[in-house]
Amino acid sequence: MIQPISHLRSLSLDVTEVDASVRYYVDAYGLAEAQAAEDSVMLVTRRDARPVLHLRRAAAACFRGLSLALRSEAAVHMAARDLAAAGVPVLRLPGASGQASVLIAGPDGQEIELIHDEDLPSSEGNDGYPLFVSHVVLNSTEPARLVSFFTDTLGFTVADRYERDLLTFLRCDQPQHHCIGVSPGVASGLNHFSMDCGSVDGVMRGVGRMAKMGHSPIWGPGRHGPGGNVFCYFEDPAGFVIEFTSDVLQIDDPTSWIAKEWPREPDTANVWGTGGPSARAIALMSGER
Ligand SMILES: [Fe+2]
Repeated sequence: MIQPISHLRSLSLDVTEVDASVRYYVDAYGLAEAQAAEDSVMLVTRRDARPVLHLRRAAAACFRGLSLALRSEAAVHMAARDLAAAGVPVLRLPGASGQASVLIAGPDGQEIELIHDEDLPSSEGNDGYPLFVSHVVLNSTEPARLVSFFTDTLGFTVADRYERDLLTFLRCDQPQHHCIGVSPGVASGLNHFSMDCGSVDGVMRGVGRMAKMGHSPIWGPGRHGPGGNVFCYFEDPAGFVIEFTSDVLQIDDPTSWIAKEWPREPDTANVWGTGGPSARAIALMSGER
């Protein structure tokens, strides 16, 4: 087993219209452009210089991968050695990119980067701008295999799940209830990703800014049962589902936490009773575009 993963750092998406996606993520969602190359753009938050979203021009929109943080450079080097020995495909060794990171292939072909990174920025905020990547939910044609990759190979633990394994919530070595979710899907890819806005006020100010820009939620605002987080979901220009969130449950004593199987009912998906996902949200989250 590798050293504990401290947090989810960023994700990478392929899009067909990079400029349109960048405008949306900067002007509406509230990120900032950090670095642009010919075919790709790196986005950061307004408070922290570390990348949170990498957009790359491609012939078709698809989820490319995610980046997970380890607490030391030595842990990255050890992970590269141990994962290769365990038969995990290593796409790039530490040092090849000029920084302490290793790139591996996940079981569904997603690129997973393990990188040395400092702790996440403060989770306090109410100005409506995203602070850090809260979580990514992945659809998989073989969800049990993907869950066991995260637990057995990368050291995640199951925090909770919906009945019939409709969604498994996975926690790394941080108090936050989950930073990865795995859902069964007809195709492997992104279900949605979410950024934390620090507070309910932060989420709602983000929602308000989206409204002023002409973007209506496809689900929410509401509050989920598992994880307890406030949510509001939108559709980005490429058809990816994105979320503003806050107030994710913090598990301060993991030794006493008992993972629960939640019924998949409207009142657990949204405990506020403000409604379930729209047909559009269901279609997009399932990977239809
Ligand atoms: Fe979410």
